[in-house]
Amino acid sequence: MTTVLKTESLRKQFGELTAVDDVSIEIDDGDITSIIGPNGAGKTTFYNLLTGVLQPTAGSIWLRSGDGATDDGGGLREITDAEPHEVAQAGLSRSYQITNIFEGLTVRENVRVARISHERTRLDFRSRATGDEAIEADIEELLELTGLTDIADTPCDTLSHGEKRTVEIALALAIEPDVFLMDEPTAGMNPTEVTEIVSLIRELDADLDATFVVTEHNMDVVTDISDRIVVLAEGSILADGTPDDVLTDERVTEAYLGSDSV
Ligand SMILES: Nc1ncnc2c1ncn2[C@@H]1O[C@H](COP(=O)(O)OP(=O)(O)O)[C@@H](O)[C@H]1O
Ligand SMILES: [Mg+2]
Repeated sequence: MTTVLKTESLRKQFGELTAVDDVSIEIDDGDITSIIGPNGAGKTTFYNLLTGVLQPTAGSIWLRSGDGATDDGGGLREITDAEPHEVAQAGLSRSYQITNIFEGLTVRENVRVARISHERTRLDFRSRATGDEAIEADIEELLELTGLTDIADTPCDTLSHGEKRTVEIALALAIEPDVFLMDEPTAGMNPTEVTEIVSLIRELDADLDATFVVTEHNMDVVTDISDRIVVLAEGSILADGTPDDVLTDERVTEAYLGSDSV
């Protein structure tokens, strides 16, 4: 296994509150890792640190580098102080909550905007496709991959919630990420949409080289898709392992039920 993303003693304080408390984690190439934990555990803050939206109070973040440049001798490059667009260029992408979608544009037009803006900003060494034809081919491939081909010409303001979430995923994939973060991909979905998004995540995992990190409330989804589960509680890692190990761990059950409520 190769480490694609690593944090060392990553910490974020909001005044007196420590939202992320010295989290050290290594994410392996190819796995689907779920990060779970009760409300307020620090999951979203952790993502915001990884993607450069928030600056950590202490600690560091490392990402496998596409060009072989390393800071640590092990193929990782430090991105602790990188801005969000630099993090994205370095290969770490996140599916945003709908707000990223241009409502007045069609699905294909949205994917095109994302793909072209990526083309403009990415560094040459990551370059795969160049020229209009290759970009158009990439756009069709992305639509196919995410199952959006049939609604490619539909304006986004007429899509269902589930369809919009899928468009978001396509936009995040347009930057050809090595690591793909999803924050509650099933939030607000009905059961049919949940089933669809779960099979999409599985297909993407099979079809792409990308490594997936997912936060999720729905425990059926977590059990279904995860190779590994990391449990956060009060900003710290409480448990880390296979779904079988983690979900039968007493400390985990207690954290969810509230240990001092007994
Ligand atoms: N911008 C902020 N300013 C102050 N406190 C925050 C901020 N963002 C999150 N918090 C606090 O940090 C803790 C972790 O929140 P969050 O990362 O959203 O948890 P989760 O995503 O696991 O529900 C919570 O106590 C929350 O109230
Ligand atoms: Mg959250």
